[in-house]
Amino acid sequence: MKNYLSEHYGDDSFQTLAGYEAKGGFAGLRKALAQTPEQVVEIVKASGLRGRGGAGFATGLKWSFMPKTNERMKVIVVNGDESEPGSFKDRMIMERGPFEVLEGIIIGAWAMGAQRAYIYVRGEYTRAIRTLEAAVKELYGKKRLGKSTFGVKGFDLDIVVHSGAGAYICGEETGLLESLEGKKGQPRKKPPFPAQHGAFGLPTTVNNIETFAHVPFILDRGVEWFKSRGTEKSPGTTLFGVSGHVERPGLFELPLGTPLREVLGHAGGVRGGRRLKGVMPGGLSMPVLPPSELEVPMAEEFLSQRGTHLGTGGVMVMDESVCMVRVATVVSYFFRDESCGQCTQCREGTAWVHKLCQKIERGRASDADLALLSDVPKLMEGQTICAFADAAAWPIQGLLRHFRDDFEAHLREQKCPFPESFEL
Ligand SMILES: Cc1cc2nc3c(=O)[nH]c(=O)nc-3n(C[C@H](O)[C@H](O)[C@H](O)COP(=O)(O)O)c2cc1C
Ligand code: SF4
Repeated sequence: MKNYLSEHYGDDSFQTLAGYEAKGGFAGLRKALAQTPEQVVEIVKASGLRGRGGAGFATGLKWSFMPKTNERMKVIVVNGDESEPGSFKDRMIMERGPFEVLEGIIIGAWAMGAQRAYIYVRGEYTRAIRTLEAAVKELYGKKRLGKSTFGVKGFDLDIVVHSGAGAYICGEETGLLESLEGKKGQPRKKPPFPAQHGAFGLPTTVNNIETFAHVPFILDRGVEWFKSRGTEKSPGTTLFGVSGHVERPGLFELPLGTPLREVLGHAGGVRGGRRLKGVMPGGLSMPVLPPSELEVPMAEEFLSQRGTHLGTGGVMVMDESVCMVRVATVVSYFFRDESCGQCTQCREGTAWVHKLCQKIERGRASDADLALLSDVPKLMEGQTICAFADAAAWPIQGLLRHFRDDFEAHLREQKCPFPESFEL
């Protein structure tokens, strides 16, 4: 079956308003505007669309949390921070299909009664920012945004592109809201949830870039069409970003539930005919899978049964040359540096985990250190203001679960037995 999100990504005219319309753009929006906002929310609910930002929350349900009254202005925040290492799909969507995202946002604004949308883009993504800004400008130029958006009286929507400054925690939705308000990107305690108290204290819905990009297709082609791809619980396609030790790293739009082996096949398989050692299926924070799990369908309901998650669909491949203790050291270094430091379990836990990984990697650790490394991540889970601490604990737990031999070899040999492994 043909893809939809990325069908025209090779065509540069798709980033212009005229080119987008020539390919049938805004058909979904026109259909949405012919329905009541409540009906549009029901369609998105019925489609089963799950958020593509990492947690896989039901999009229609989230939209229904927005207050129905118009006492206060309502806001949409679009998460284009894409801070998960191994994930690069949102960048591609913003650069190649900016109007897909904007059309999805306008449909969302109609459905939720929002008057303003902020697109928060990772600061390093300069091309994505320029592309989105140009697309927004074109819409204003044709008077399709602002007062009477798309000519609909009483539908007044403004869209602002906002550049972030590069911190992983600014991808977490409440850290992002703080950053958007000009403060340090430190996550907020919940409740209150963004639907009650979000950006600038206003009712807010936060969705990922890719999530919005799917919406126009659902409105235009229908719920049954959308559900005909993917799995029962995870309909539609997604852009899998395959990186690491494969022949042809890249982005591949495939139905959710595609077996991992097939996803790797699109990237040409493991480089140089080497053996596969492990795969992180959804970005750096998702626990590794061993080669015995190559047939797993790439959808949350199947991956969670194997102790991992789909995350952002950033598939990171490691071949037999990789030392998994080295991986643990690099992963823990990242999370130690990116913790915002508000919660003791996260701030201290990430520092301890990194210290222990380093000690083991250098061949200076004892059995007691390995036992401690098994315990500390457990103490970090579910105890903190945001899910960052869980995201820091999971990959270490996965590496210990499937590759304990690598850790034990370091204790036994008092050095790293993988001379070829990569440098930090
Ligand atoms: C530490 C951390 C980092 C996150 N980074 C991102 C990110 O870069 N982009 C994103 O869309 N969601 C990210 N999320 C998830 C967001 O908090 C939020 O769930 C998501 O943007 C909601 O969109 P969705 O429902 O469309 O998936 C992160 C979450 C955590 C805990
Ligand atoms: S879990 Fe970590 S990143 Fe999240 S609020 Fe606490 S200290 Fe900050």
